[in-house]
Parts: sequence; C-alpha cells; structure tokens
Amino acid sequence: MSWKVVDRNQVSPDQLGPGLSAATREKIRGFFSRYPTKQACLLPALHIAQDQIGYCSLRAMREIAELLEIAPSQVMDVVTFYTHFWTHPKGRKVIVLCRSISCELMGGKAVREAIERRLGIEDHETSADGEYSLMMEECLAGCDHAPCLLINEKMHKCVRPEDVDRILADANNDRLDIPRSTTYDAGK
Ligand code: FES
Repeated sequence: MSWKVVDRNQVSPDQLGPGLSAATREKIRGFFSRYPTKQACLLPALHIAQDQIGYCSLRAMREIAELLEIAPSQVMDVVTFYTHFWTHPKGRKVIVLCRSISCELMGGKAVREAIERRLGIEDHETSADGEYSLMMEECLAGCDHAPCLLINEKMHKCVRPEDVDRILADANNDRLDIPRSTTYDAGK
C-alpha cells in the first residue's frame, strides 16, 4: 500500500466516507477497560470499524482518533502499516494470498498470476463486478499446505493455477466467514 497525502482542507464530505455507527462506538468503548490505555485499543477499534464499514474511511479514522484521544495521523499510520486494513471500499470477498517463502517455493507466484489474469486485478484492487478483491499477506500459518490462500476467512490449501477457476466459481468459497474483530471477544 502506498502513502497518500491527505490535505484535510481539501477533503470533501464524500471523500471522508461513512462514519462509525452508535453500535460500533459502543463496541469500541467496551474495550477501554480491557487495555491499560485507550490508545492500546486502536487495533481492535480498526477491525471493528472495518467490519462495519467495509474499510477504514477517513471519517472513521478521525472518529476513532477522537474516541481514543490520539492524533488522526497516528490512526492513519497504523492503517497504512498493516495490509489487512483498506482505505477504500473492497469487494464482497477478499482473496488473501500468501507471499512468504514456503508458498513462493511451492508455486505461489503462478497462482497469483492465474488469479490476476482471471479477475483482471492486482494487489489491493477489486474486480469490476465488485465480487473479489485481492491482497498479499505474509505467512498465513498454513505452510504445510503451500501454496495457500484465504477467501475471507476460509483457507484453500495446496492451490494450483489450474484450481483457480474452480475455486472462484464456487459460491461457497468463503463459507467460513468469521469477522476478525470477533477474535478479540475470545477472552471476554
Ligand atoms: S509461507 Fe505461506 S502459509 Fe506459511
């Protein structure tokens, strides 16, 4: 993800995008007592916001900064550091392709090329029909099944380029769809 310069005086309401719902704010506030500082709630807050909106809009980043009493630039620093966070709307299903060593050695590059050819998109882009977005991440902890990928939260193992059409045509290829923010609820 490349750095983008944002001139706050030139941003239109449209560019700010959606804001946090009352329920999202409440859920974020629910984390305050579980962390030593409000700032420490930033990652769960971003996951919660992204689950609500579909990405981390400028308005959501600004509202999170207000909630956590930190500078908006600190929020944007974190959003642009982690590839998992999106600063623009993404497709209904996100393909997360591993780009680490085991998957690369086992043919991950050819799988990536097959997906890019099939969908006509590259990293952090969305297909014209809004169905799929593509992103690369480091090791998905499935090295023994390399090369592997996730579609939303469902893992596809030992994927070959010739499997790509079949996988993408399967309407249930994201059936195990667990919002990442719920992983933060585990210790509750
Ligand atoms: S290197 Fe791809 S899952 Fe570990």
